[in-house]
Amino acid sequence: MPEFYALVPAAGFGSRMGHELPKQYLPLGGKPLIFHALNTLCACPEIATVFVVLAPEDTLFHRYDWSRFGEKLQPLYCGGKRRAESVLNGLRSSELEPDDWVLVHDAARPCLTRAHLSNLIAELRDDEVGGILAVPVADTLKRANGQQRIAHTEEREGLWQAQTPQMFRAGLLAQALRQCNHVTDEASAVEALGLHPKLVAGDSSNFKVTYPQDLLLAELLLKEK
Ligand code: CTP
Ligand code: MG
Repeated sequence: MPEFYALVPAAGFGSRMGHELPKQYLPLGGKPLIFHALNTLCACPEIATVFVVLAPEDTLFHRYDWSRFGEKLQPLYCGGKRRAESVLNGLRSSELEPDDWVLVHDAARPCLTRAHLSNLIAELRDDEVGGILAVPVADTLKRANGQQRIAHTEEREGLWQAQTPQMFRAGLLAQALRQCNHVTDEASAVEALGLHPKLVAGDSSNFKVTYPQDLLLAELLLKEK
């Protein structure tokens, strides 16, 4: 039986946050931001191990007490320059079996819930390809011209915003990322193989903390959790 694993890329810096501390360590609800995603993933009984991919020069992770997660949490100091590189390096270090399922989740999505995870796993565990959590686009979309004026309105029908976790078999994902490492999510690399990952409907609470104002919203949502 293939098992389920989580892999959390956390080797970025968070330049859009504009803070001197890397985004994953900014305080959120009395904990470093990355704690919240790790907590939800480690509490999920289907997931055997949660690998967290850190920058080789990371000196902050070990300063926190992670003992509550025991052996289930495994730091890997093998992050790369790009997110896709961090994920591929993490897959190599984790030594998973090709058929094992891996759920790649951004450290910067702290509001992931148990329900998001259960739904994703239930929808995809018998799938040939795998897939991702995503939400149908709600706003009207404008294409800008070179002067930051509206060139035209894009058709919204059928457009989804990709989130994480993105769930694929470890062998397929490693093959996809070896061939295509300029992508900003795992699904793009799998798509480049000619496959069609499934869109599993999530909700907007699982947003990515990117800009300073996102921290306040995350804090409010985590209080409700
Ligand atoms: N990430 C990574 N390795 C990289 C770049 C990003 O592991 N070389 C991780 C980030 O730590 C984050 C996730 O990928 O958990 C999503 O990326 P993003 O939100 O873009 O984070 P950053 O790249 O750190 O932020 P920014 O793009 O604003 O610099
Ligand atoms: Mg980035």
